Amino acid sequence: MRIGVGTDHGGFVLKETVVRVLAEAGHDVTDFGTHEETPTDYPDPARAVGEAVASGEVERGVLLCGSGVGVCVAANKVRGVRACVCHDTYSARQGVEHDAMNVLCLGGRIVGTELAGELVRAFLSGEFTGEERHRRRLEKVLKIEGGA
Ligand code: RB5
Repeated sequence: MRIGVGTDHGGFVLKETVVRVLAEAGHDVTDFGTHEETPTDYPDPARAVGEAVASGEVERGVLLCGSGVGVCVAANKVRGVRACVCHDTYSARQGVEHDAMNVLCLGGRIVGTELAGELVRAFLSGEFTGEERHRRRLEKVLKIEGGA
């Protein structure tokens, strides 16, 4: 799968683990930075990864900041992005299966490397089920997004 990854300084160290886990699992990773552990405004990587997901350049995204919250708030402003902070594996998988989540957000100051790897694997193991009730709910979400 084509995966875009991005971080601010708060998730910089954990990004290395995320990129390694993705590459080891055979995914095609695009690293949208930041590429140095210098202060970086979280909306910048969030926008880059969010727009790549929305355009189809990548199929899913993984975003990191200190808590995961900043990149999540920012990425969800990109139309077509459904991002969430998931620090448990159930939500990381089920958010995709039921809610068509397409960006996983992680807090680099919150989760350790082993849990981060499990979260990323859970996220990527999920597929939207397409069940009628989930499609109906997704359509309602998209109506909110479209201002209808
Ligand atoms: C940066 O200090 C910090 O605010 C950021 O990494 C993130 O935690 C925001 O939600």
